[in-house]
Amino acid sequence: MNYKIAVLPGDGIGPEIIDQAIKALNAVAGKFNHSFIYEYALVGAVAIDKTGSPLPEETLLKCKASDAVLFGAIGDPKYDADPKATVRPEQGLLAMRKELGLYANVRPVTTFPSLLDKSPLRKEIVSGVDILMVRELTGGIYFGKPQGRSEDGKTAYDSCVYSRFEIERVVRLACEYALKRKGKVTVVDKANVLATSRLWRETSKEIASEYPGIEMDFMFVDNAAMQLIQNPLRFDVIVTENMFGDILSDEASVITGSLGLLPSASIGLSTSVFEPIHGSYPQAAGKNIANPLGTILSAAMLLETGLNLTRESHAVTKAAIKSLEAGIVTEDIDRSNPCSTSMVGDRIAEYILST
Ligand code: IPM
Ligand code: MG
Repeated sequence: MNYKIAVLPGDGIGPEIIDQAIKALNAVAGKFNHSFIYEYALVGAVAIDKTGSPLPEETLLKCKASDAVLFGAIGDPKYDADPKATVRPEQGLLAMRKELGLYANVRPVTTFPSLLDKSPLRKEIVSGVDILMVRELTGGIYFGKPQGRSEDGKTAYDSCVYSRFEIERVVRLACEYALKRKGKVTVVDKANVLATSRLWRETSKEIASEYPGIEMDFMFVDNAAMQLIQNPLRFDVIVTENMFGDILSDEASVITGSLGLLPSASIGLSTSVFEPIHGSYPQAAGKNIANPLGTILSAAMLLETGLNLTRESHAVTKAAIKSLEAGIVTEDIDRSNPCSTSMVGDRIAEYILST
């Protein structure tokens, strides 16, 4: 079959890790007889430099016209260091979420046995961890109005706003994922303080009643932050609002020690976006040392979730695990005998074709 994929490499190490994912996709195309048409487009600091906008109209149009979007990373230190910059790369990301209706960010957090000693936690706590973080992505305090400053500039405010339908769709998605896993959904909120959290609880309970196979529990966010460290094995699917999800998904991603390996999907109303969870890592840009696995595994998620190509997706995941086990890894994983970014990509593409 023919598929159109929008490719947004973005900033920092984005272009070089995206190249490796494209090698994997090309190997899949060859092996399974598909044709992937790539539409490259600008986003982030590179887009600001070339067009003045972090998400040019042309990029958005290419995304909307595609079956799925493969995204690298955005962010550039020259903007981080300038608090007065009015146009920022991150605005491109938020605008893309809003424009494509990317209502849920899904991050699988899994352990890779060969990496357990990279975890800041003891092996027995993290061994076997398999959590799916589902974060609401287009609502809450990130987008709530009013937001701003009082006239005298001495007071600032953000608003956390949620409507029932925004909660319903993301909680339903979490339940659907849980049905294919252990059937457990933990809703994380702050219902002892926040009105939006109480609406989340009320709505989630109603959704749970549609899913007799699902066991749902509720946890306050402060407790969840603690439990993720103390007993991560207790979780299956976690679903939560935008800001709590931002914080907890970063926390969850480091406990397994596999930050450079973790992929994510942002599920959209029609087109979804797939990207590694790590950032643009500007210190490594252009050095051919960054770990491409997070992006390659994001391409695997793209195949499965974005294009419905499950066998193809598994072929990529299997090849990625094989490269890990064979020690074909970048310096973040093996400092004494590291491979380059492009070599890891080449080897994974070969594995896909040869198995
Ligand atoms: C993320 C990032 C973004 C967010 C930033 C870059 C705006 O931290 O994708 O988690 O807060 O959502
Ligand atoms: Mg974040």
